[in-house]
Amino acid sequence: MRTQVAIIGGGPSGLLLSQLLHRKGIDTVVLERKTKDYVLGRIRAGILEVGFVNLMREAGVADRMDKECFAHDGTVISFGETQFNIDFKELTGSNVVVYGQTEVTRDLYEAREAMGGQIVFNTENVTIHGADSDAPHVTYTVDGTEHRIDCDYVAGCDGFHGISRQTIPLSIRKEYEKLYPFGWLGVLSETPPVNDELIYSGSERGFALCSMRNENLSRYYIQCSLSDAPEDWTDDAFWTELKRRIPAEYADKLVTGPSIEKSIAPLRSFVTEPMRWGRLFLCGDAAHIVPPTGAKGLNTAASDIHYLYNGLVQMYETGKSDGIDQYSEKALARIWKAERFSWSTTNLLHRFPDQNAFDLKMQKADVDFLRGNREAQSVFAQNYVGLPY
Ligand code: FAD
Ligand code: DHB
Repeated sequence: MRTQVAIIGGGPSGLLLSQLLHRKGIDTVVLERKTKDYVLGRIRAGILEVGFVNLMREAGVADRMDKECFAHDGTVISFGETQFNIDFKELTGSNVVVYGQTEVTRDLYEAREAMGGQIVFNTENVTIHGADSDAPHVTYTVDGTEHRIDCDYVAGCDGFHGISRQTIPLSIRKEYEKLYPFGWLGVLSETPPVNDELIYSGSERGFALCSMRNENLSRYYIQCSLSDAPEDWTDDAFWTELKRRIPAEYADKLVTGPSIEKSIAPLRSFVTEPMRWGRLFLCGDAAHIVPPTGAKGLNTAASDIHYLYNGLVQMYETGKSDGIDQYSEKALARIWKAERFSWSTTNLLHRFPDQNAFDLKMQKADVDFLRGNREAQSVFAQNYVGLPY
């Protein structure tokens, strides 16, 4: 088989890139290790920056999103007895939208199928060959049969545990990582959200987040121990703990119900440099991970896709390579800022096992400064709604 761009991974990054390129007449094949149902079953991000929304529009897959998403103009921050609102709209003129990653992925799969896009599921042993040559190819097996795709470029969109990043030799690749001593336990429930804005809450029992998907679907998270398993948490235990970590006025009106999904994600900051090696380009979680505080994971994947898509279109349409040549540098410049925001918001609102009384005072002083300072709120809001591409 031959294609122009072989895309490893059929998550949001790979699908979005494939859809955007197809509309410019550039041929792609997407290789996905799992089944479509498996990918659609993963409950992950919920908050999209306007940059992401615009990319979905450019990809021609925004109809349902534009109808069903909810614009969020601000958020509630709570810390102990302190509680305040950060008004994104007023401070930046912009907002974010609530639309689940599951829905984004479903819309992209539907569009890919409607356009006859090639997605190969259940691929095993995916291997990238000759990424640093002029003629790369990818091999993989499905049901025990080996296949080969020759291509011009390879996009590594295969998430944190994928093979694309490992293809870059260790002598060239540099990795930066920070692990946090806790995870997030997430619950999805068919209950009305407790508030019309998100609530990010730091409490002496640990962090909690109240989020949502729609008027009868809520998403809640609590900071948990890395040794916890979702089965250790009954629904009752989860709701009780959540109520203890959010302000009383919300705890009192929280509507609880059976969880329809419950999972734990460890928190990690991770960046690999460079994001390009020869004709291989890394995008999204394959290249970087943020702790979820601040909802930057999926949104940083989108900015990578923006830079790579524009670089490849420029290359195919004009033969000029500056877009793809600058890909790694441009993508990383934005990613490091999102890493900083996610790291600092995690530090601001979580309880760390080794925090002493001084550390707690510092955390409180940080929150007090944010509450009382318009410029600090403006910095927070700019980062939350998304830095420009
Ligand atoms: P992925 O979504 O990981 O997609 C990669 C795809 O590649 C997968 O479908 C995988 O099956 C496939 N793949 C992997 N290896 C191979 C291979 N060898 N061959 C072929 N295919 C392969 N972000 C937020 O903003 N908010 C959140 O609340 C949030 N929660 C999260 C919870 C969890 C448990 C995780 C893991 C992430 C979460 N994120 C969150 C981050 C966000 O979901 C990711 O940033 C986003 O999914 C990145 O998209 P991606 O397409 O780059 O990677
Ligand atoms: C969600 C996840 C986040 O990490 C976040 O900061 C906001 C919302 C969510 O899943 O809804």
